Amino acid sequence: MAIPQHTIDQILDRTDIVDLIGQRVKLKKTGRTYSGCCPFHQEKSPSFHVYRDKQYFHCFGCQANGNAIRFLMDIDGRNFVDVMKDLSSQTGIELPKDNHDSKKLLYKRIANKPDVEKKVQAKTHQTITQTTSTSSDATASFDPFEQFQNSDDPFASFEQFSDSSNEPNQEGNLYDLLENIAQFYERQLPHSQTAQQYFKQRGLSRDTIQYWRLGYAPEDWQHLEKAFPYDIEGLRQLGLIRTSDKGRDFDLLRDRVIFPIRDAKGRVVGFGGRALNDEIKPKYINSPDSEVFHKNQLLYGLYEGRKQKAQEWLMVEGYMDVIALQQYGIYGAVATLGTASNTEHLNILFKQNSRITIAFDGDAAGQKAARRTLEIALPLLNDGRELKFFVLPNDHDPDSLIRREGIENFHRLLQQAPLLSDFVFAHLSQHHDVTKPEGKSQVMGELRQLTELLPKQGSYRYLLQQFFREKLGFNRKWQPQVSNDASLSFSTKIDAEEYVIAILMNHPYLYIHFEPLRALIPHDHLLFKILNIFNTIFDELPEDIELSQYYVLGGCAAYHHALHNILLQANVSDYTSSPEQADKLAEDFSIKLQYQYLKQRLKSKKFTDIAEMRNLKHQIYEIDRKRSLTLVDE
Ligand code: UTP
Ligand code: MN
Repeated sequence: MAIPQHTIDQILDRTDIVDLIGQRVKLKKTGRTYSGCCPFHQEKSPSFHVYRDKQYFHCFGCQANGNAIRFLMDIDGRNFVDVMKDLSSQTGIELPKDNHDSKKLLYKRIANKPDVEKKVQAKTHQTITQTTSTSSDATASFDPFEQFQNSDDPFASFEQFSDSSNEPNQEGNLYDLLENIAQFYERQLPHSQTAQQYFKQRGLSRDTIQYWRLGYAPEDWQHLEKAFPYDIEGLRQLGLIRTSDKGRDFDLLRDRVIFPIRDAKGRVVGFGGRALNDEIKPKYINSPDSEVFHKNQLLYGLYEGRKQKAQEWLMVEGYMDVIALQQYGIYGAVATLGTASNTEHLNILFKQNSRITIAFDGDAAGQKAARRTLEIALPLLNDGRELKFFVLPNDHDPDSLIRREGIENFHRLLQQAPLLSDFVFAHLSQHHDVTKPEGKSQVMGELRQLTELLPKQGSYRYLLQQFFREKLGFNRKWQPQVSNDASLSFSTKIDAEEYVIAILMNHPYLYIHFEPLRALIPHDHLLFKILNIFNTIFDELPEDIELSQYYVLGGCAAYHHALHNILLQANVSDYTSSPEQADKLAEDFSIKLQYQYLKQRLKSKKFTDIAEMRNLKHQIYEIDRKRSLTLVDE
């Protein structure tokens, strides 16, 4: 079974190597890496390291190294496919069907049809052996229904087919059938004045029509059945014929211009059909998902863009946008197949280039779609990936815009499309008054919700927060006032809780010592809220102290105002003298406060529950013991 690289990447994206190895090897966090005793050789001191940000392991003792897949293969002596099956079920990302399933591509062709239809069959199957680029001149004379008027000997041309695969009673292959249908639709185009007129009116050149293999599905209710009489089962599997309530079969696409949809390998896998005028609803009908057509994993124009060596990729909404842009010389536009774009689509595009652009309509619906896409795109933004948002002028789509602006202007507009950071800033700030502190705080708060969606390993979270802070005109950093008083006392203007807040904002890593307070402080106190935020962000704090301060400021942005006042008043300079001293001071301070809270609680409560009271007393006793220990230390 061949597993495509994008599936492997997807599975790796969803697997955390630290969790995975942690199930087999006892790992200890050491700074940003995890280490333990190497499972691949005998050792007493740990030289085996696991890097979460790189999703990679390395043993400095025996040089074993690799990613999660390599780890599982080596540790259990299993083969690649075996390991991938395992990871697939763990991550829920499906592997491609193996050969066993390729049977599903086959359908039974039926024999015993009237001979007259055999001739049609022969003709249509002949096409697959011909070159796939059909010129409309060569096909202008083709009439799939000619046999119904023609009195020629029906066996005359059938005799030419000695190739047994073309005989009925064999198994048919869905890909072959799709290719033949595409050719059939292409050949219908010259027969329909209205269809040709339609493309002309939309400004498509002859070359463009040929390049995209555009076609026409006739009005006849059963044209496919007539053209492919042996392949009814295949047509049914592809969803191209439907059955009415009365049990009659009819074609899905009738009197529509046809956009054949090719997969990444260039094989026709489905069709989109557009009505010839805008009164007819629905405007587009797409063939349904089938064994070979998975809308969620396909992008219209991907194959063509790759063939034209597109560098820049642009996600647009419709087939006509893709085609018009290509005709004007902008390659690499792709569209989903009438479905909303999903993670899979974006991942496919990020494989082409780490920088992609998504076009949106300028209207409210477009804004909504942009927000949705933003939310599915954020988790994919590993470092190095860039997303741009091309918001179109009102009432335009890329098709109409490039016709109005021409290639150069369009290109310029495209280049000017904002990066994600600018787009998000504009998006979030348009609902708030960012000239006021409250508005700024709200924007920072909403930003935090979005940055939660970003990958945990990347630096993008921090960068985005910093970018916002700068844009909103916050000070680069809130400088605590310097004082030479190195005692543990705090300014008389602020209380102990506020002092803890000041310590935390300046020295986020000291949170460890204050964490126990969370269980004891009343929930309406600011310190409780701040500790809660720390609780969620602590694991992701950057190691660099200055970076971690920014990070914390971003995280606590909703309380910007109160924090600002506290930080102006507090003097936490004694915490900067040495890390050891800072640790000790923080711990003492925390214990002191824990003791106070417990005492207060004991006093204030009228206990009905004797066990709770005992518990409280016990906690106080324990804290007391710690306090006396620290006193002895001094
Ligand atoms: P739009 O309705 O935005 O139109 O459909 P468009 O692409 O500008 O179409 P033209 O220019 O009028 O021809 C965008 C895409 O949404 C899907 C199709 O894939 C279409 O390309 N769609 C639209 C449907 O699947 N069904 C519909 O009824 C309409
Ligand atoms: Mn359009």
